[in-house]
This record gives sequence, C-alpha cells and structure tokens, in this order.
Amino acid sequence: MSKGLFITFEGGDGSGKSTQIEKLKDYLEGKGFHVVLTREPGGTKISEDIREIILDSRNTEMSDMTETLLYAAARAQLVEQVIRPAVERGDMVICDRFVDSSMAYQAYGRGLGDIVWDINKNAVGDYMPDLTILLRLDPEAGMGRISGRKQDRIELSSSDFHRRVYEGYLALEKRFPDRIKGIDASRGIEEISEEIINIVQDLI
Ligand SMILES: Nc1ncnc2c1ncn2[C@@H]1O[C@H](COP(=O)(O)OP(=O)(O)OP(=O)(O)O)[C@@H](O)[C@H]1O
Ligand SMILES: [Mg+2]
Repeated sequence: MSKGLFITFEGGDGSGKSTQIEKLKDYLEGKGFHVVLTREPGGTKISEDIREIILDSRNTEMSDMTETLLYAAARAQLVEQVIRPAVERGDMVICDRFVDSSMAYQAYGRGLGDIVWDINKNAVGDYMPDLTILLRLDPEAGMGRISGRKQDRIELSSSDFHRRVYEGYLALEKRFPDRIKGIDASRGIEEISEEIINIVQDLI
C-alpha cells in the first residue's frame, strides 16, 4: 500500500482511548505496519508548548474562544509536521483526539456551536481522518475510572459540561456516520479491542 491511514480515537475522559490505542498499535505492528502514535493537544514541540497553556489549571481566566483557537493552532502544526507526512510515507497514524474533540468540548460543551467547525476546517486544511473510533461511555463512569489521577483544567469542569460533551459526541456520530464509528466502551477491554480491530481490518 502506498498511502497509509489516519485513525483518530475520541471519547470522554477515562473512556479508554489510551488503552485501546496501545492495543491497536500492537495489532498493526504485528501485521508489519509502521505505526505513528500521537496525541492532542501536542505531538510537536510547538503543539506541546501550546498544550501546557491550555491544560494549566491556573489559567482559570481563559476565554472559550481562546481555548478553541489554541487547540486549533496546536492541531494545525501537528497535521503539517507529523500526520500528513507520515500518512504520505505509508505509515499508520493513530491520533489520541482530533477535530471531533474540539467539536464535543468547545462547540457542544462550551456552547460555541459550529464556528468551531469552521475554525478547525481551516486549521487542518480539510485534512480529516480516514476513520474515527468513538468510545461511548457515560461520563460519570469515565470520570470514575480516572478519579485517582491528578485532573487537568478541562477534566475539572462541571459534570453538566461533561454531559454536554457526551451528547455532542453522539450528535457527531450521527452527522458523520461514514467516518465516525461509535463503540460501546462500557464492556471489557478485550471485547472492545476486537471490535475496533474488525473495523480497522475492513480498511486495510
Ligand atoms: N474497558 C475498560 N473497562 C474498565 N476499565 C478500563 C477499560 N478501559 C480502560 N480502563 C481503565 O480506565 C482508566 C482510563 O483508561 P484510559 O487511560 O485508557 O482512558 P483515556 O480515554 O485515555 O483517558 P484520558 O481521557 O484521561 O486520557 C485506566 O485506568 C484504564 O486501565
Ligand atoms: Mg488517555
């Protein structure tokens, strides 16, 4: 295959993205693919610097629009510097969060609406994932799974906010049914992983 695939993972905090990304990576490497893992916000020097500002729990005065633009800026750099070149080399790129996170957290969670879509479409130059795996898990259950960790500024938002994020993800799944595949993430790790691998297999 000359061109690789760009796969993103989405879902609320604690929905199992990191866990499932590792399992998919192992599977794809076992099949002989070169896998590039990256995360948002971050994945390049500039994007990681932006990440520090976004997630710093002291930045309580940050406006919703500033937050949206910072995520988009970090993403623009990541697409240009890492994702697009890797896919063009024929690699499998798996990204932990992408445009749909901005839609779920800023458009739905913060209530900014579709301006977030316009900003992001421009930021990534219409470069979208071939496949997005959405791990659907009730936000209370997700927060319960990560309650022992130190929480960042976004994770510390209210439970109403996390509920809106979850509803937003469900709306996105309906809006982009060809790209976004929703998965019941309340099940066991192995069962979820098998379902994801089946979906990815159909694309390779
Ligand atoms: N299917 C599952 N059932 C029960 N626990 C799980 C499952 N998947 C992951 N976990 C556990 O839940 C916690 C959160 O998982 P993980 O870090 O993969 O989620 P995440 O979506 O990457 O979270 P974050 O948004 O904070 O990065 C971890 O302790 C992980 O071991
Ligand atoms: Mg994670």
